[in-house]
Amino acid sequence: MSKITLSIIKADVGSVGGHIKPSEEMIQEVKKYVKNKGKNILIDYYVGHTGDDIAILSTHRKGVLNPQVHKLCWDAFLAATKIAKKQGLYGAGQDLLKSSFSGNVKGMGPAVAEMEIEERPAEPFLFFAADKTEPGAFNLPLYLSFCDPMYTAGFVLSPVLKKGFRFVIMDVAYTKADKIIELNAPEEIYDIAALLRDNGRFVVESIWSRATGEQVVSASTTRLHNIAGKYVGKDDPVMLVRTQKNFPATGEILSPYTIGHYVSGFMRGSHAGPLMPVKRNSTISYFDGPPVISCLAFSVKNGKLTGPADVFDHPYWDYVREKVARKAEEIRRQGFFGQAMLPMTELEYTGVMDTLKKLEKRFTIRKK
Ligand code: 13P
Ligand code: 13P
Ligand code: MG
Ligand code: MG
Repeated sequence: MSKITLSIIKADVGSVGGHIKPSEEMIQEVKKYVKNKGKNILIDYYVGHTGDDIAILSTHRKGVLNPQVHKLCWDAFLAATKIAKKQGLYGAGQDLLKSSFSGNVKGMGPAVAEMEIEERPAEPFLFFAADKTEPGAFNLPLYLSFCDPMYTAGFVLSPVLKKGFRFVIMDVAYTKADKIIELNAPEEIYDIAALLRDNGRFVVESIWSRATGEQVVSASTTRLHNIAGKYVGKDDPVMLVRTQKNFPATGEILSPYTIGHYVSGFMRGSHAGPLMPVKRNSTISYFDGPPVISCLAFSVKNGKLTGPADVFDHPYWDYVREKVARKAEEIRRQGFFGQAMLPMTELEYTGVMDTLKKLEKRFTIRKK
């Protein structure tokens, strides 16, 4: 049996009424494009949106970073951009930062999460997509699910899980090449924690089972901020997580999302807000937020997808959403003061820096 590749490629190429959602026509165009042009490239695919981002999940046998697969998605987003322009939508082509395609979409704007796997007899996996936040939003939930028995009971109950997981963490501040470190849980969880707490800089790229060597997580690490040299929207990450058997159970991967932890993003990508788990194809609203995360569960066999099951479409998560809304309201009460707005290092390319430069000249040193 040859290997199967799961690919998520996601971009914001235009949105209705602000940064809310893509138009129905754009989504239909992406579906049509992938269906027609992907016939001889893909085995199966799913197209959906989270906030203003369109994500293409596909299965194929071409491996990760495959030029044909990446070009197909890039061109599908170009086709949707045309529609967005025609409809006068906001931010048409926003995430397509380079004018011509070269090899794969990494570093060109779209977010990518891919893995090549040997399919297990039963292969359940989760497809996460977040909007109005950045890749570091996954740090806390991944830490909890892959290091902490309070969230993954499997560490107590399963001898295989007990062998732990290997984290590959990227320093996204280094832009010349991929700068990564590999750390093993559980022995090095304090080192993992020391890096992951700084989630604007250190981001989980992948996680591997130490029992079997199999890859279990692939997450996007793109920082548009670092590609474009200026603010062009938040990085709105995607992630693939395989579940069950030698990996945490689906519910163990989901359990940290009950926290609604504070992440960077929200209005103008410049604020802290709680991450709200939302249903499939949710839109964005309050203060261009709150930051949202969707999660769809699939099963795959010989590359054929069954699903999705919308995991956050359940009465439990209605209760969580209400709690998260309260957390959002609470931090919004202090507007742009202190922890509510991001530090200057995250804002350095926007107008506030010009204001500060101008004001600097007006400062005087008082004589004693
Ligand atoms: P089942 O006993 O229903 O297979 O569930 C096992 C499991 O992993 C639950 O998290
Ligand atoms: P997006 O990155 O989702 O386009 O949001 C940008 C923004 O500025 C929201 O206020
Ligand atoms: Mg947008
Ligand atoms: Mg977005």
